[in-house]
Amino acid sequence: MAQNLQITAARPDPALLDLPWDVPLADWPSSVLAALPRGISRHVVRFVKMSGGVIAVKEIGETVAYREYELLRQLSRIDVPSVDPVGVITGRQDKNGERLEAVLITKHLQFSLPYRSLFSQTLRPDTATRLIDALAVLLVRLHLIGFYWGDVSLSNTLFRRDAETFAAYLVDAETGDLHAKLSPGQRSYDVELARTNIIGELMDLAAGELLDEDVDTIAIGDALLERYNELWSALTDEESFGSDERWRVAARIDRLNTLGFDVGELEITTDIDGTSVQIQPKVVDAGHHSRRLLRLTGLDVQENQARRLLNDLDSFRAATDRQNDEEEFVAHDWLSGVFEPTVRAVPRDQRRKLEPAQLFHEVLDHRWYISEQQKRDVPLPEAVASYVDNVLRDRPDEMAILGLPPEHADQQE
Ligand SMILES: Nc1ncnc2c1ncn2[C@@H]1O[C@H](COP(=O)(O)OP(=O)(O)OP(=O)(O)O)[C@@H](O)[C@H]1O
Ligand SMILES: [Mg+2]
Repeated sequence: MAQNLQITAARPDPALLDLPWDVPLADWPSSVLAALPRGISRHVVRFVKMSGGVIAVKEIGETVAYREYELLRQLSRIDVPSVDPVGVITGRQDKNGERLEAVLITKHLQFSLPYRSLFSQTLRPDTATRLIDALAVLLVRLHLIGFYWGDVSLSNTLFRRDAETFAAYLVDAETGDLHAKLSPGQRSYDVELARTNIIGELMDLAAGELLDEDVDTIAIGDALLERYNELWSALTDEESFGSDERWRVAARIDRLNTLGFDVGELEITTDIDGTSVQIQPKVVDAGHHSRRLLRLTGLDVQENQARRLLNDLDSFRAATDRQNDEEEFVAHDWLSGVFEPTVRAVPRDQRRKLEPAQLFHEVLDHRWYISEQQKRDVPLPEAVASYVDNVLRDRPDEMAILGLPPEHADQQE
């Protein structure tokens, strides 16, 4: 039996003790494993079914395990999209008393997809570009809070659908470091490494014939650099203008909101004779739309999903002629009269295929599409029914696992 197990966790689940820690992770029986898509990695990683959800277990050196655990805890605290740490287990021994490697446990990120799973024929060809956009946003967010990743790559990132785009999450923090502030050199080193890694990963996909021949891998790597630089400067550049152009302060804030960021602190300085003004955002927080939606409706969804839902809320407000009502009240009616009935209209067995906000987004898209086709305003209930029958039924179950039975879970590698 495994003895002297040491569990470090904020809220240890006693059921963790029932897992076969005296067996090397690679040999765990499929009865405890959850077959979910997994990216490639040096270490052995397995997903395990627990009563409270699925966990990811990674065998890794003890020192590194503690370090990664701490970093992930810090990242979770400051609300950066990353996997949530559960704990570290050390002191494992097999039946002969041989030492076994420590493990780091994280919560499995629901609905997440490793990039390799996203390259199936069913996806639009611009998927690679959308993944890169999501990764650029994640990298900027990490750099804004002083996190140096050290090994940015597609396989160290998980993706979740976010309306028509993706949201990226950090999964592997092993090489990371949290600083008070990153120098331009550190940032550019991280981005350059990302570029090299991505090109390598896409070339691998191309070699395995998983990538469309027309995709220019170098151009995609370069696109990350461009997207990153664009976003970084939109968020942090100092801007200077004449004192008669003060509207530009509000315009800058609007622009940042449109990019999905809130300005926590803006520095405004004028020169001595007061003819020119300089502004520079000092604190920017991602999640402008998702915070607003959360405040109004209690729905906690991703940024672009929130943007879409807020747009629908706005049109509901206009359609019901309630521009002068308190926004909170209108939002409540929209939630109970539009959003919830729509999600509930999807049969239960189909509902788990996508997150509710993503379902709603897709129903709206579908309604737009069939309304165009039929040249009339298709009501929402009719659109849901048509969406379920014509679109959702054929979709793979992303939450469960793109259709692989447990014994084939390892084919992901
Ligand atoms: N919490 C999680 N939720 C979902 N997937 C996860 C989680 N943890 C790990 N994975 C999957 O396992 C893969 C490997 O994890 P990770 O990158 O941490 O391993 P690694 O061996 O440290 O990687 P590397 O080879 O980059 O050092 C990830 O790409 C991801 O697909
Ligand atoms: Mg990794």
